[in-house]
Amino acid sequence: MGTILVIDDDDQLRQSFQKLLTQEGYRCIGAASGEAGLELLEVESPDLVILDMRLPGMNGLETFKQIHLLEPKLPVIIMTAYGTTETAIEATKMGAFDYVLKPFDIPDILKIIAQGLDAGKFMRSPVEMDMVPDGGFKEAIIGRSQPMQEVYKAIGRVSSTEATVLIRGESGTGKELGARAVYQHSLRKDKPFLVINCVAIPETLLESELFGYEKGAFTGAVHRRIGKIEQANGGTIFLDEIGDMPLSLQGKILRLLEERCVERLGGRETIPVNVRIIAATNRNLEEAISEGRFREDLYYRLKVVTIWLPPLRERPSDIPLLTDYFMARFSRQASVDNPGVTEETKALLSQQFWHGNVRELANTIHKALIFNRGTPLSPEDILRAIGQDVHPGGVEDMDDEKGIVQWVRKEMMNRHREDLFDAIMDRAASIVISETLKVTEGNRSQAAKLLGLSRPTLHSKIEKYHLKMKTSVSSD
Ligand SMILES: Nc1ncnc2c1ncn2[C@@H]1O[C@H](COP(=O)(O)OP(=O)(O)OP(=O)(O)O)[C@@H](O)[C@H]1O
Ligand SMILES: [Mg+2]
Repeated sequence: MGTILVIDDDDQLRQSFQKLLTQEGYRCIGAASGEAGLELLEVESPDLVILDMRLPGMNGLETFKQIHLLEPKLPVIIMTAYGTTETAIEATKMGAFDYVLKPFDIPDILKIIAQGLDAGKFMRSPVEMDMVPDGGFKEAIIGRSQPMQEVYKAIGRVSSTEATVLIRGESGTGKELGARAVYQHSLRKDKPFLVINCVAIPETLLESELFGYEKGAFTGAVHRRIGKIEQANGGTIFLDEIGDMPLSLQGKILRLLEERCVERLGGRETIPVNVRIIAATNRNLEEAISEGRFREDLYYRLKVVTIWLPPLRERPSDIPLLTDYFMARFSRQASVDNPGVTEETKALLSQQFWHGNVRELANTIHKALIFNRGTPLSPEDILRAIGQDVHPGGVEDMDDEKGIVQWVRKEMMNRHREDLFDAIMDRAASIVISETLKVTEGNRSQAAKLLGLSRPTLHSKIEKYHLKMKTSVSSD
């Protein structure tokens, strides 16, 4: 799940992190000084560092510089108190991933950690193209079909150029993997790579996240913040889901592409930046343009080099290969022997439509593996994982529906309140989450994956519904 090194001289804070991060499924190691942290860095090769600015001996900024020198791609989150904000900003300019002000909220820090780990994974774990599954040890773009060969060629061609790249394709076709492959084969592969998901960040925050702001730019802007674009200077920025970017920001991105500069919010200074842009979207941009939701000028700027990822149904010959790959990968992740799949199962998998493309195939295999007891996956296992009734002839489980209808009616009879919808949804959500946690034996990371929720979201729902489950790793 990832090892996190916490460098802080406050014993209590390190212990709190230890407890929190272990509960979240991470491995946490601690160091009380910069010097001790640097030693651990070499021995333990952590995936992320959380670093306090105020340290005895070597100070936080100096420690950061050393870490950055040794491991330029390791994401470092700086913790700072009000007095040391300036040095934290200094560190972000030099490439620290982000900083948080003490005291911080747990969901906030968990979110930044998850983002940092993702960013680190993007930069550090190589994505191989067109390789034979090797037991699931490496992350790879799997596929031998003709349409995928075209994708590899396109990635190869654009990687060594400085061109802006637009990656298109339906949801779950591997656009994010494609973006990483472009970056990792590019001339900028040793420079930072930052990911901005344009839908995951609320519109009001996206602008300041990308462009940064000056002190006093708006209420709450108590100090200067460096935006991600400026932070990625010299490197690459991946604008994921660009089709969902608000119109107001599209103009600023166009300016960045044309003039290679940014302005922080509330700032007068024009700051030159040298970043390569990779963008991705599953939206129909042409339609968005005709509906006035996407700027045509930006579209033409972006689309010069477009890589299309084919939907899975157009390359069914890749499905057996992908199946073997995911079986190996997920078995290894769960530390179980790979039970394999039968030929009939492969045939069934190859016939499905896969609306959700590779992601849906992967999730289906993952689910089927969780319930598997060591025998090769059968077509029935797959159908159950897809959620179809395995009884011959029937497609929907009518009994389930009846049960839900009865439950809703009972709630309506009993409740004289005006929040029936929310009450029923909450109840359903709490059942779904607690059942999933039972299946994963309390492992929240695995549960979050199965449910398609981020860990912080799952965490907050567990709190909300008071689902106090014992986790397999926690001590309480
Ligand atoms: N060719 C492939 N080989 C191996 N794994 C793949 C391949 N394509 C996609 N995946 C896996 O499927 C999942 C979805 O891929 P990814 O996130 O890249 O999709 P996407 O196109 O960005 O989807 P969305 O539009 O929903 O964001 C990921 O777990 C990814 O690792
Ligand atoms: Mg994506």
